[in-house]
Amino acid sequence: MLTLRINGIVVQVEEGWTILETANFYGIDIPTLCHHDGLSDYGACRLCLVEIGEGKNAKYVSSCTYPAQEGLVVRTHSKKVNDYRKLIIELMLARCPSSKTIQDLASKYGVTKVRFKIKNDDCILCGLCVRICKEQMMAGAIDFVNRGKDRKITTPFDIKSDVCRTCGACMYICPVCQLRCQGPEPPGTVCGGCANLQPTCLDHYDDAQCFMSETACGTCVRERIKKEV
Ligand code: FES
Repeated sequence: MLTLRINGIVVQVEEGWTILETANFYGIDIPTLCHHDGLSDYGACRLCLVEIGEGKNAKYVSSCTYPAQEGLVVRTHSKKVNDYRKLIIELMLARCPSSKTIQDLASKYGVTKVRFKIKNDDCILCGLCVRICKEQMMAGAIDFVNRGKDRKITTPFDIKSDVCRTCGACMYICPVCQLRCQGPEPPGTVCGGCANLQPTCLDHYDDAQCFMSETACGTCVRERIKKEV
């Protein structure tokens, strides 16, 4: 058994567990995006980052890939960790603002503005689709290609794959494909107001619960009232 300290609480775990598994076991919530039970961890989104060590030796690691170690001191919600997480969410939101999953994260973590250029991409390169295709569907029909800004996920040679069974697992697991906001193109801000209200966009769009600002779809009661006052 290993003994470590998470947020000041002494915890014990089996060797081989990650920090994320340990925290989840003890009921400590760490946000994740590219982690999925049943798939190998890849450490792509960095949303699960935590602070380990103390003082000058403190560093930030992704908890889904970092192993629990004897005597480790972990902070899951320090100010710096929260600030980094907000920045990561802001970057993801700029890349894929229509993703309901990312909008929900923005709302939960108080990201109300996006300072980066909005891209309206349909992929955040989390690699969940690649891993489910390879590890659960045993197909390996898609993978990452290129590097840097040209990095993307596609089939070999960008042509229809012979091994793809069109099972839809990649779309099922994708945090950007699922529950895509059906409203107009969102602007660079999120209000998060719907989090405490009956989401009015559900009356207008079948499966969307939009957390974007008033100019996104125009159904938000709170914003309508604000305009009328
Ligand atoms: S959930 Fe750990 S890096 Fe994405």
